[in-house]
Amino acid sequence: MSSQIRAPKGVPEYVPPQSGRFLTVREALSTPARKAGYGYIELPVFEDTALFERGVGESTDVVSKEMYTFTDRGDRSISLRPEGTAGVMRSVLENGMHRGGLPVKLWYAGPFFRAERPQHGRYRQLQQVGVEAIGSDDPALDAEVVALADQAFRDVGLRDYTLHLNSLGCAQCRPGYSARLREFLAGCDLDEATLIRAQVNPLRVLDDKRPEVQDQVASAPLPVDDLCAECAHHYDETRRYLTDLGVSWQESPRLVRGLDYYTRTAFEFTHDGLGAQSGIGGGGRYDGLMSALGGPELSGIGFGLGVDRTLLAAEAEGLELADGAQVRCFCIPLGDDARHVTVGLLGRLRAAGVGADMAFDSRGLKGAMKAADRSGARFALIIGEEEIAARAVMVRDLLEGTQEPVPLDEVVDRMMGSAR
Ligand code: HAM
Repeated sequence: MSSQIRAPKGVPEYVPPQSGRFLTVREALSTPARKAGYGYIELPVFEDTALFERGVGESTDVVSKEMYTFTDRGDRSISLRPEGTAGVMRSVLENGMHRGGLPVKLWYAGPFFRAERPQHGRYRQLQQVGVEAIGSDDPALDAEVVALADQAFRDVGLRDYTLHLNSLGCAQCRPGYSARLREFLAGCDLDEATLIRAQVNPLRVLDDKRPEVQDQVASAPLPVDDLCAECAHHYDETRRYLTDLGVSWQESPRLVRGLDYYTRTAFEFTHDGLGAQSGIGGGGRYDGLMSALGGPELSGIGFGLGVDRTLLAAEAEGLELADGAQVRCFCIPLGDDARHVTVGLLGRLRAAGVGADMAFDSRGLKGAMKAADRSGARFALIIGEEEIAARAVMVRDLLEGTQEPVPLDEVVDRMMGSAR
């Protein structure tokens, strides 16, 4: 016998009933954006590698170490998308969406791929729900995007999470700040790799979670203390709008995101029940990204919410999530004659929009009742010889434990009524 093939390492699978809860979470995470005027965008799962090198940044871990890159049959370098923002920007440009009304507001959902070391909550295929709002500097839009993420987590039912907020400055004030930080870091006692990182991308060192690095950078200059007047005003306004929206946050002046495109507003949501991989979502502004991809100078802001981690967070909080069971009636034929009547009834129930399933393979009443319970149905519709003779169906209410015969030609209407 040949050996069994298993799913690739670090790739989570969702099978019933867990997959139903996964869908419930994904739906809840995307609903606030849909209701706020964001249109759906379905993006390619793989893109030209250069898109991520230019968009996300060659020095980021995500691009330099974690991308699934391969040469296709036409000798092109292709990468599985590690994130969604760069692809959205490419698509907006390619489809000329930015020439219509601004901001362009889009949402997306699906799998992303990062060759990280797998652990609890850290996967190589991860699922996100994301939004991008392109073409506006308005701080009310920053607040909208942050508030939509907050609402999304609340709609799932989460309580034990924190919103961390920071501002990272812009193309005007960041270079001066980065130079000051580089100078500070050069005088610190850091290991070789961190010193190199301090030169290439000094902001990342601020966010290094290792205690020995945190000690060293405790007195480092912070981005918020070095903002230009426009950035400082933008950050103040963003926070005022967040207050208007009733969102609470924690100032996190060392928060730096793992992707290179961020400017000004940066935010992250962390959950207390997840251990090391506590980030359930994050995002920020990326005012230079569009022009870096060859487009006009259009700013933007967005977020990516981790569906896998939100599901883990919901489980950690003990939330009861609907598993999306759709079957309302479970039809049970007893005997060969009943099977044709049952199949006909099943077809009529489904055509009328009533969720319905049936017991296959003639397993007898006991096995069929077990299957009815597993299906999540409210009613078992039993058809035996007696029922056929009386042109009736025995309708058993699985919740109340009661049953009554209903005429065969009335049962669909009855089930439609009970579905309401
Ligand atoms: P990100 O912070 O890299 O941002 O990812 C967003 C969320 O995806 C994280 O907060 C986390 O919940 C989830 N996530 C990331 N990596 C993994 C993983 N290996 N396993 C499980 N979950 C993971 C972005 O991707 C940006 N594109 C977000 C954005 C949109 N910024 C602006 N617009």
